[in-house]
Amino acid sequence: MTRGLSLAVFLVAIVGCSDTGPTSVTDTPIVVTPPPPPAATPFPGITAALTLDPTQLLNYATPTLPAHYAGLIGSLTDNGRTAPVTNAGATLGRVLFYDRQLSINGTKSCASCHAQASGFSDPARFSVGFDGVGVTTAHSMRLANTRFYEPGTMFWDRRAATVEAQATEPIINAVEMGFDAAHGGLDSLLRRMRSLAYYPELFQLAYGDSTITTDRLQRAVAQYVRSIISTGSRWDTGYAAVFNPGLPDRGVNQAIASFTAQENRGRELYFTPPPQGGAGCSACHVAPTFALVANSLSNGLDAGETRIFKSPSLKNSGVPGPFMHDGRFATLEEVVQHYDNGIQNGPALDQRLRGPNGQPLRLNLGPGDRAALVAFLRTLTDTQLAVDPRFTDPFRR
Ligand code: HEC
Ligand code: HEC
Repeated sequence: MTRGLSLAVFLVAIVGCSDTGPTSVTDTPIVVTPPPPPAATPFPGITAALTLDPTQLLNYATPTLPAHYAGLIGSLTDNGRTAPVTNAGATLGRVLFYDRQLSINGTKSCASCHAQASGFSDPARFSVGFDGVGVTTAHSMRLANTRFYEPGTMFWDRRAATVEAQATEPIINAVEMGFDAAHGGLDSLLRRMRSLAYYPELFQLAYGDSTITTDRLQRAVAQYVRSIISTGSRWDTGYAAVFNPGLPDRGVNQAIASFTAQENRGRELYFTPPPQGGAGCSACHVAPTFALVANSLSNGLDAGETRIFKSPSLKNSGVPGPFMHDGRFATLEEVVQHYDNGIQNGPALDQRLRGPNGQPLRLNLGPGDRAALVAFLRTLTDTQLAVDPRFTDPFRR
């Protein structure tokens, strides 16, 4: 009873103090700890749907590149030279790339046909579209080093002028993602995106306000695609040790210490022109990015061919998967067989694949050298890129 009364008196004294200011003889100020703020984030939509931390975006803008890539970004071989990559822009692109809401029935994302673990391609010859039945008419293209194809045109037949223009083509394609004119087109997708809480926030981060437009969508996807740069293959590590910017060939013809004898033989064939006994691949698929050279014509798959196709970078071509625009070759062995003795004549056949007589080149390599060339192509597989956290699925599934 006495204790209860004195406690009550003490409490009254404290209340008095806080109302009228400190009167205690000790002059100790009373510290009132404010209640913790509500657990709010400025990006509730992002936090709820995605594993991203908007305050700590991953680094896409200034990637760490080996010395043999120095100067390639921002140079003539960089089709992104007019559109700098920002961390927030590429992050938005990453979300778009993995978002199944980009297909009309919520089943397919870009990653469905461009899987990180498969070199950003599809192990299937033709990819299945949103309805689970229709398939693409071409094989899905690997996406590493897309930015280094100098003309900047996209698709096997180069029909899209830029990476930006390409970005919305699969979305409005009636087989791939299904937002074709009959289903409301891109306007219909933009309306859906405005209703998904994470998009206004991501557009705010990337562009300074939350307005969602086709142009902004295209630019964000393009930033993501241009960020997929391959520098982590066994060839890159081996070449870095012999890279020499002072040499005319920058050291690509040097033996690589970490390679087997077979891989080094394949490397030699790849970089040596046919008149000197090589296979001449590097005249078109150019190191260190292995992107296709700008002036390449056809590689003679079909007799009488008049069309000119491009190739994606050969980085990750060792990841199992069909090859060429129609996925006609199941293995790299078949690819090498084609270049060895299968090239067909036609108006579009490139000069580099013709012999001195103008006829299709016949390398006649023999089984040992063909296997060596395949072994070399496998050294271009980038196992680091296959697990790089900047390119993984950001959705909480
Ligand atoms: C249903 C499968 C499928 C989906 C979904 C898909 N793609 Fe593709 N992608 C392909 C195929 C097939 C090609 C080759 C098409 C052609 O050349 O006609 C291709 C080609 C590309 C290219 C051209 C690469 C080059 O070097 O020219 C890029 C870039 C690309 N896709 C990015 C994307 C993006 C971004 C998305 C999502 C917005 C996407 N793709 C969705 C199958 C797909
Ligand atoms: C004249 C330039 C040229 C030369 C030389 C050349 N290629 Fe190609 N390569 C191409 C073109 C163009 C394509 C795309 C063809 C298509 O799909 O229609 C291609 C496609 C490929 C592909 C398939 C790419 C994919 O994503 O499916 C591989 C692998 C390849 N070449 C390897 C080689 C090798 C190995 C050599 C040397 C023996 C070589 N190339 C020589 C132009 C060339």
